[in-house]
Amino acid sequence: MSPRILCVGLVCFDVIQTCSDYPKEDSDQRSLDCYWSRGGNASNNCTVLSLLGAQCSFIGHVANNLFWEYAKRDFEKYGIDVSKCIIREGRYDFPLSTVITNAQNGSRTIIHSNKNLPETTADEFLAIDISQHSWIHFEGRNPSELFKILTSLANHPVRNRTVSVELEKTRDGFIELAPHADTVFISKDFAKYHGWTSMEAAIDGMKKHIQPGATVICAWGENGAIAYQDQVGVVKAPSYPPDAIVDTLGAGDTFLAATIFYLSRGKSLQESIDFGCRIAGAKVGARGYDIVE
Ligand code: ADP
Ligand code: FRU
Repeated sequence: MSPRILCVGLVCFDVIQTCSDYPKEDSDQRSLDCYWSRGGNASNNCTVLSLLGAQCSFIGHVANNLFWEYAKRDFEKYGIDVSKCIIREGRYDFPLSTVITNAQNGSRTIIHSNKNLPETTADEFLAIDISQHSWIHFEGRNPSELFKILTSLANHPVRNRTVSVELEKTRDGFIELAPHADTVFISKDFAKYHGWTSMEAAIDGMKKHIQPGATVICAWGENGAIAYQDQVGVVKAPSYPPDAIVDTLGAGDTFLAATIFYLSRGKSLQESIDFGCRIAGAKVGARGYDIVE
């Protein structure tokens, strides 16, 4: 049976404006292109996993309004199961990002708003039947509740699944989650926040934070990616730059999803991060995620 992957985290609404250059403050101009899209790391992970052919589910809090109608339909379009989402009624706002993409270099500047939507708590998550999932991935949010979830899953009598976590936020309280996951993804922003200025330094620094036998993986933009597991040692993959960098929004989410896709199918760590870089390289050469197909 093919692995069923569950991603837990944020779904938001992204409004993306492509500008000929990064705008000057207090200027007024037309964009080259504008589109909107379902966003959020875990939601993007699911999009990529599903395009690659994985069976996957998304769990997160959502505000029951028109944005959710759109997001739900979009999840359905990609065959992503959202039946276990926690739906909030009433005066909750849907999280929204305004994204400026610079056509010169594909850079993305994200302005994110999440006004009042609660995060998934341990009690809520642990009440959900997750028995069908052989891989559960958590976007690192709400660290105190996520700590309870990870330790509870680690102590579960049936340990027949892989648990991964993405540490991306540049705030305190997240690195403490690392010892409680089988696979830990860290971003370059997270690494720099902890004083590691290269991907090699990040892996070195993270070794003491993961449990024996666990894996740590770090993507580093055009430098590619690096990973470590004590049986395997350190492995690296180069980046695969496309002819032109068009859209880097969600490059990290694409890398993570493609890497999990390969790992969950029993590929080696080296093959998996290499696949992650190939798919992320294709993604940055085009708008959105459908290129992954
Ligand atoms: P994030 O979206 O978290 O900032 P990164 O910038 O680290 O993510 O990129 C994730 C992966 O996407 C990299 O490991 C690389 O494979 C690919 N990638 C990102 N930027 C480029 C680029 N300019 N050229 C080629 N590949 C890239
Ligand atoms: C990309 C992304 C966007 C979203 C933002 C939230 O990684 O998930 O889709 O707007 O980050 O932080």
